Amino acid sequence: MPEEPLTDDPFDGRPPTSHERMTGLSWDASYHDGPAPWDIGGPQPAIVRLASEGVFTGTVLDAGCGTGENTLHVASLGSPVLGVDVAETALAMARSNAAGRGIKAEFATADAFHLDRLGRTFDTVLDCGLFHTFEPAEHPAYVASLASVTEPGGTLYILCFSDQGPGTGPHPVSQEALRTAFTPATGWHVTGIDPDRVHTRFHDATGAPAWLATIERLRSAPPR
Ligand SMILES: C[S@@+](CC[C@H](N)C(=O)[O-])C[C@H]1O[C@@H](n2cnc3c(N)ncnc32)[C@H](O)[C@@H]1O
Repeated sequence: MPEEPLTDDPFDGRPPTSHERMTGLSWDASYHDGPAPWDIGGPQPAIVRLASEGVFTGTVLDAGCGTGENTLHVASLGSPVLGVDVAETALAMARSNAAGRGIKAEFATADAFHLDRLGRTFDTVLDCGLFHTFEPAEHPAYVASLASVTEPGGTLYILCFSDQGPGTGPHPVSQEALRTAFTPATGWHVTGIDPDRVHTRFHDATGAPAWLATIERLRSAPPR
């Protein structure tokens, strides 16, 4: 059997994202020396509240799942969930967390810009803290990738830092940026953008201002 070629490419052959180019480090490196700034050791309260409202129906994808705290929370309520990330170290932690807690959830390495390569579709998609790491120039490819795996009529939830201070996070997003990215032309309808909070290890107990966007995948194909 041919051996896998040895590689020291921290990006595993994919182009680095804008965040990785800016920091000079792969996403995986964020998980090497203790908890990452966003790793609060449990699910985000906004996601717990959403889950309690019963919105995670059908098959669920958690894009950019990190150590899988949100994935595992949703899975613990009985939904079949796949968490994907480019950071292998985070995925190893997620799998270990799942095993340690006896929660059934699936984790896989996948690039959020090429979710179609999963060869699966999902009824509900969660993006907790991923969209806000991308620059506007990356939005069209990410939005198209999300569209490729979201069932018509399915729902995408995005929790991201908002640009409405005080105490905004490092990648503040405007409502306009969300509404520019997700349009009928790209196959989506924004049904709501509500103020919320994102908790991190570097904000106080109230967290940082956030948007919780609810976005529906249109049933008809976008015009060409
Ligand atoms: C700010 S963290 C949020 C992690 C997790 N959702 C949470 O709430 O704790 C962003 C995550 O997205 C992942 N990520 C960044 N770019 C990605 C890409 N192109 N494809 C898949 N995952 C990506 C990072 O590795 C990181 O785990």
